[in-house]
Amino acid sequence: MINVAVFGYGTVGSGAVEVIMENNAVIAKRVGDAITVKSILDLREFPGDKYEDKIVHAVNDIINDPEIAVICETMGGVGAAYKFTKMALEAGKSVVSSNKELVALHGPELIQTAKEHNCSYRFEASVGGGIPIIRPLTDALTAEVILSVCGIVNGTTNYMLTKMDKEGSEFDDVLKEAQAKGYAEADPTADIDGHDAARKIAILSSLVYGKTIVSDDIPTEGIRNISAKDMVYARKMDRKIKLLARYESADDIVYAMVAPFLLTPENPLYSVNDVFNAIKVTGNMLGEAMFYGKGAGKLATASAVVGDVVECAKNIGKHLPCDWVDEVVELKDKPLSQRRFFVRVNASAKEKAAELFDIDFELNADFTDEFAFVTKKMSEKDFEEKKNVLGAEVINNIRMED
Ligand code: HSE
Repeated sequence: MINVAVFGYGTVGSGAVEVIMENNAVIAKRVGDAITVKSILDLREFPGDKYEDKIVHAVNDIINDPEIAVICETMGGVGAAYKFTKMALEAGKSVVSSNKELVALHGPELIQTAKEHNCSYRFEASVGGGIPIIRPLTDALTAEVILSVCGIVNGTTNYMLTKMDKEGSEFDDVLKEAQAKGYAEADPTADIDGHDAARKIAILSSLVYGKTIVSDDIPTEGIRNISAKDMVYARKMDRKIKLLARYESADDIVYAMVAPFLLTPENPLYSVNDVFNAIKVTGNMLGEAMFYGKGAGKLATASAVVGDVVECAKNIGKHLPCDWVDEVVELKDKPLSQRRFFVRVNASAKEKAAELFDIDFELNADFTDEFAFVTKKMSEKDFEEKKNVLGAEVINNIRMED
C-alpha cells in the first residue's frame, strides 16, 4: 500500500484527493500497488467533508509518519509551503507540487534536496494546469535544441480576454466569474499583472536551458490596460489579443517576456479560448509542437498533480532526475527580433506621433478623441524611446505578432 498525504485542502488539494479516490483502481494498476490518501494537512476544520477524518493540523504528524511516501503540496505561497516541502524531502518523502511560485523561486534547491535524500520533487501541475508540458520537455524532447517556447499559460486572463472579446464584458465582471470558477490565484493581481505567467515561463525556460531563469527578471506586462476599445480595434484587424509568455534562445543568448500580443488567425494560439492554455515549443529538428488543454481549475490541475504521484509511487527510494541547476542566467534585455506595434494616442498628439513613428497603417474605429495606428517593424528599444517622447499622450499599445 502506498500512502499519500496532502498539504493544503483547498481547490487543487481537494481535487487531488478526489482524483486519487475516484480513479483509485486505474491508478493502483499503473503504480503496481494499492494507493490511498492517509492524511490531509490544513489549519481549518472541514465538518461534514467526506474525508474529514483524514485532516491533521500538525505537519509533523505527516513528516514523522513512516508510512507516508508521497506528498502533494497544494498549499501555495513560499513560506510554510517551502518549509514543509524541505522537511518532507529531508525525511525522504517525495513531494509533488502545483505551486509555481515555489517552484520558480526554489525549484533547483528542492530538486537537489530530493536528490540527496533519494526521493523526488516533481511539479507537472505548476505550468499549464492539466496539460502535460514539463515531462514532454524534460523526458521526450531530449534530442532537441529548444529554440523557443511561447504560450498562453494563464487560464484566468485567457478566460477574461475571451469573454471581453466575445461578449464585450467589463474587466471587473469577468474577473469575478473567473474567480468563482476557481481559476484565479488567491490574489488575482498575480494573474492580471502577468506574474503568474512569468513564473510559469521562468520554470519552462529554466528546464529548457538547464539553469535558473529568475521570474522577477522577466519583463512582464499584464492585461490591466486592455479595454473594450482595444477589442474593437483588434476585431478591425481580424486579430485577437492574447497574453503570451515567451522564451527564446540563440547562441547562448536568452530572452523571456510576458505581454499581451495581437495574433492573426493563422497563429495556432489565436484559437485558444476561455480557460484553455497552449504552449508552442520550437525545436531545431522537430520544428513546432503544441500542447493544449485546460490550464486551470480543480480537477484538471489535480489530474497533473496525481500523475506525478503515480511517477513517484512507482519509484519509491529512487530520485527522478531533473536537469535544472541553481545557476542564474542573465537575460538579454531586449528580444532577438523586431516587431510592429499597435498604438493609440490622444487625437491632439496625432501629428507628433506621425512624425515620430514610421506608420504601417492607420485604423479608424470611430473613436473621435483618439488616433490609432500600427508601426512598421522596429526594435523594443526604439519603440520605448519614441513612446517616452509621447508620454501620457499614449492611451495604450500592444505588440503585433506577425
Ligand atoms: N491562476 C492560475 C491560472 C491557476 O489562471 O492559470 C493555474 O495555474
